[in-house]
Amino acid sequence: MSEPMVHPKSILVQGISGLVTNDPAAGPGLTGRLRDAAVVVEDGRIAWIGAAQSAPAADAAVDVDGRTVLPGWVDSHSHMVFAGDRAAEFSARMSGTPYSAGGIVSTVSATRAADDPELLAIARRHRAEMIAGGTTCMETKTGYGLTVPDEVRSARTAQAAGFDEITFLGAHVVPPEYARDPDGYVDLVCGPMLDAVAPLVSWIDVFCEEGAFDGAQSRRVLAAGQRKGLGLRLHGNQLGPGLGVRIAVDAGAASVDHCTHLTREDVDALVGSDTVATLLPACDLSTRQPAAPGRLLADARAKIALASNCNPGSSYTSSMNLVVALGVLLCGLTPDEAVYAATAGGARALRRHDVGVLTVGARGDLHVLDAPSHDYLAYRPGVPLTYAVFRRGVRVV
Ligand code: NIG
Repeated sequence: MSEPMVHPKSILVQGISGLVTNDPAAGPGLTGRLRDAAVVVEDGRIAWIGAAQSAPAADAAVDVDGRTVLPGWVDSHSHMVFAGDRAAEFSARMSGTPYSAGGIVSTVSATRAADDPELLAIARRHRAEMIAGGTTCMETKTGYGLTVPDEVRSARTAQAAGFDEITFLGAHVVPPEYARDPDGYVDLVCGPMLDAVAPLVSWIDVFCEEGAFDGAQSRRVLAAGQRKGLGLRLHGNQLGPGLGVRIAVDAGAASVDHCTHLTREDVDALVGSDTVATLLPACDLSTRQPAAPGRLLADARAKIALASNCNPGSSYTSSMNLVVALGVLLCGLTPDEAVYAATAGGARALRRHDVGVLTVGARGDLHVLDAPSHDYLAYRPGVPLTYAVFRRGVRVV
């Protein structure tokens, strides 16, 4: 594959054996797959898409030699502003100690102790790792600061590191200094902390789970965020059945994330709603939980996303290639469903229309796989299939 030395105004990507567009008007199936295709990206956006033999000229051309091209991954759930690691906790878990929300406070201590350059360098490093794995649009959260200045600092760090979407997760757990007054902490989150962080973020989130926040507290947090004009997301049904899914759906949240333990009522609530069920199979695996019921949700026609949940506690991987493989192998999705969930599904979970699809006008975010089809992601799990990545029309890998 030859590549241009400078960033041209327009670039023709040709030699594509299979192009996943996620546009049902472009090709057959859920992924709207075109064979023997080409794409032109101009000024960072898709300008043309179609059969290779009709491709127009461009300032530069790249031949991908019969490889597969997908939209870049849209990773709609990560926690990348943190310091320290929890390898010892992971090791203890693999020896039988169950995962609980309590481990989060050790990352809170390490994050508070880190200085600004250190925190920013860690966030940047992880974002670069995501891009190297084919992720071109990424969300991340605050949630390891849990004081007003530390949450503001986390949001600023996420901005400076270049994340596309930033979520306020002051309601991650109750920090130790509020252990005797959890409702007082919710007052802080919904009051001065939200006032200070809201201008820096687009979303608010709450961890609705035993050991974190109960149903009433979760509703309060979402309502406060909504009054500030933020979009809503919720961590729910991760470690056991609970109210999370129904609270998220009732509140009109864009996404409810984890969805590992669902009742029939939860599935029905999701099906009749615009709330995306964001599955995090690498987290299920790494916390020794059962796999989220992807097949059940897909058969019921719920809206599904797949995301990494990259964080130092429950899921320390940024690899969306792995997540897609697990979506198939653990959660029962087909390769088409899993690829769609990790691209168009992630975009829907972030209420975005410009990413996760390859249509004229969409962002020029392309993921070139060194494989004859996207089935290979699950067929050859763990094999480094990412060959090249273009973000906004610029080759970054
Ligand atoms: O999505 N569930 C809550 N938050 C993260 C875990 C964070 C941690 O363990 O540090 C999650 O899994």
